Amino acid sequence: MNIRPVRVGDLMGMQACNLQNLPENYTMKYYLYHAMTWPGLSYVAEDENGRVVGYILAKMEEDLPEGDEPHGHVTSISVLRSHRRLGLAKKLMIQSQEAMAAIYQASYVSLHVRKSNRAALSLYRDTLGFTVRDIEKKYYADGEDAYAMRLYLKKTD
Ligand code: ACO
Repeated sequence: MNIRPVRVGDLMGMQACNLQNLPENYTMKYYLYHAMTWPGLSYVAEDENGRVVGYILAKMEEDLPEGDEPHGHVTSISVLRSHRRLGLAKKLMIQSQEAMAAIYQASYVSLHVRKSNRAALSLYRDTLGFTVRDIEKKYYADGEDAYAMRLYLKKTD
């Protein structure tokens, strides 16, 4: 399995992976926006045939309120069922986090996750060290609450 920065040719594969794995789906324009605006923050995991088996779609947060530090945001991450528990999501997260700090001087990374999503919560909290900053009531379209999570990044010179 290989992890590399996303290319425009991967976007259909990323979208297909997202559609299989999550109810939060995005237009192709939104994938393209991420890839074109913040090259280096979104990655794919590909199998030996070049098929996208996992992705992270990430960006820098825009329109920051006065005084807020520059920070990255994970819009979406998922890995095909057939390729889970191999460490791919952890690697995708770390690649993106490192790029946020090194390229855009992000001081932290934020994300939202469903309260019921045990696998993702364990990845963020136990494996990567994120903490819960807030609970956003009815954040998801079906009414489920989200944990707003955050991880401070090490400064890179
Ligand atoms: N149960 C408990 N802990 C888990 C699970 C699980 N099913 N899956 C991962 N973890 C935790 C473990 O601590 C694991 O470490 P270990 O294997 O050494 O015990 C650690 O996370 C790292 O696991 P990875 O192998 O890197 O995770 P994987 O590649 O399987 O992907 C993911 C995890 C992305 C959550 C996957 O299960 C998935 O695609 N789920 C559906 C989509 C989804 O929920 N995405 C996140 C939504 S929130 C957002 O996008 C911001």
